[in-house]
Amino acid sequence: MTAEIISGLEVAKEIRQTMKTEVTTLKEQGIVPKLTVILIGDDPASHSYVNGKEKASNEVGIESEIIRLESTITEEFLLEKINELNKNENVNGILVQLPLPEHINEQKVIETIAPEKDVDGFHPINIGRMMVGQDTFLPCTPYGILTLLQSKDITISGSNAVIVGRSNIVGKPMGQLLLNENATVTYCHSRTKDLKVHTKNADILIVAIGKEHAIDASYVKPGATVIDVGVNRTNEGTLTGDVDFEDVKKIAAYITPVPRGVGPMTITMLLANTIKAAKRRNERE
Ligand code: GUN
Repeated sequence: MTAEIISGLEVAKEIRQTMKTEVTTLKEQGIVPKLTVILIGDDPASHSYVNGKEKASNEVGIESEIIRLESTITEEFLLEKINELNKNENVNGILVQLPLPEHINEQKVIETIAPEKDVDGFHPINIGRMMVGQDTFLPCTPYGILTLLQSKDITISGSNAVIVGRSNIVGKPMGQLLLNENATVTYCHSRTKDLKVHTKNADILIVAIGKEHAIDASYVKPGATVIDVGVNRTNEGTLTGDVDFEDVKKIAAYITPVPRGVGPMTITMLLANTIKAAKRRNERE
């Protein structure tokens, strides 16, 4: 058996095509969705992600603005900037690119963003709403993965879903979204005693640990769906995932590649959240 490769790029393209039409309609009604991204310092990966976000926004007609700040700015200055954007009626979505310089408190920054503009879905209010299954901004990577699974009609309800990695951005919210869809969810992490015992039982295996090829076929149940969130730079300078794609492809039913797997979906869901924020603001008026 060889797995069907789930092209996040293809699914993302289709969704963005629909979004383009939606944004055109919104603009005719005088609603212009706008995303503001704050980028601090000169981390090359962060710059590359932010450029990708800007390009994708413009492609579907969402206005975008990048505020670039030096890594030496004070926390107070950053919080003030966020407060200004909270008050700015033209801005629908605010995203502060992570990670932040060490002297800035990440949680404080996240909690300063107005929940109704929190298109990352990182504010505790939005996380809480997600937990109880209310309509809210879902964190973009888990939301993108859920959308990918649904696009292939992969059965989530009643499945054993195993998440490897427990970050606030991916692992934790991913488990919650799958639980909301009636999966039986197991979280694995660096202290898990015998990783294979769990992963071998997974119908849906989601890997987000940032370790090149940590998961080979010996960790995977035949016929499983394997989603690779890892983005690792190899010694040759190319990008590769947390999953040994060539090996796992031989026994999985579905697998996502890196690149062109989860990445394009993450950005697409950011656009979806920005459009949602703009529509909601309009409904409140
Ligand atoms: N850094 C890596 N991923 C993300 C993300 O999804 N949102 C933000 N704000 N920063 C990130």
